[in-house]
Amino acid sequence: MNAGQPPRSVTVSAPAKVNLALHVTARRPDGYHELDSLVAFADVGDRLVLEPAAAFALEISGPFAGALADVPPDDNLVLKAARYLAEAWPGHFSPVRIRLEKRLPVAAGIGGGSADAAAVITGMLRLFGRPEESDVDERLRTLALELGADVPVCLQGRPCRMQGIGERIVPLSGFPPLPAVLVNPGVPVSTPAVFARLGLAPGQPAGSGLPQPLPSTDAGTMQWLEWLSTCRNDLEEPAVAEAPVIGACLRTLTALPAVRLVRMSGSGATCVALFDQMDASEEAAQALAEKHPDWWVTACRLG
Ligand code: C5P
Repeated sequence: MNAGQPPRSVTVSAPAKVNLALHVTARRPDGYHELDSLVAFADVGDRLVLEPAAAFALEISGPFAGALADVPPDDNLVLKAARYLAEAWPGHFSPVRIRLEKRLPVAAGIGGGSADAAAVITGMLRLFGRPEESDVDERLRTLALELGADVPVCLQGRPCRMQGIGERIVPLSGFPPLPAVLVNPGVPVSTPAVFARLGLAPGQPAGSGLPQPLPSTDAGTMQWLEWLSTCRNDLEEPAVAEAPVIGACLRTLTALPAVRLVRMSGSGATCVALFDQMDASEEAAQALAEKHPDWWVTACRLG
């Protein structure tokens, strides 16, 4: 750091992304799957600290750092996101050193890598300011989608309906914070493998989209829970076939006292149990953690 220039760094959180509904509506001719999904974010997540540096660098700590030990830093979505931005606006963004505290399980259906990549974009914009261009938002959205289908929605970081492969996003106003427990039974799941098990041919239509209409902006917790119970995650069945412990996890959550709704998130293996009271979710999380010390269990609020 130059003398006279104050050291700068920004801290950004990367909240867990939870698909409360995930309907697969078709397979596109290019092989990707069209979705209609309701996405919310937890008040738990990874944490990133970014600071300007002479060269791009990544350090990973935290309880799930080990799961990324075999990924070469250059292949990590975090560094990829930082480099993409610097290449997209040369001269505006400079290299950064990123410290990532990995608190979320990896390959878990809660967007870990996508949330981290979105947090890097947010952090770089805070550190270096927004490029002054009229189409900056559109270019950022395109860049985010190139990094991964879930990165644009993670960039929003608030409840959204997500369609297409992740490029059509509508934020939902009035979504009530929902008490929840997130549980990961400890098996990493490959997203392409789960999608492949659906067995859809390129161009083939699949199931229906989200039930219409969505709850209105003044709907309360119970109305949202009721509507969500009419939705589904079409990846649950193929994910259970891929990793049967997910089925055991879903059954365990369904048997919890006071639970309102149980669903897998994304392509798994993380499952979510929803409650209408925060103390019920905290009690459930404590009981689960005692009974399954090898599972990752956390009470949180989704919103
Ligand atoms: O974009 P992302 O890296 O998250 O996707 C991982 C893989 O999951 C894709 O390469 C694709 O095989 C599959 N996928 C899909 N349809 C989606 C999202 C992901 O088929 N909407």
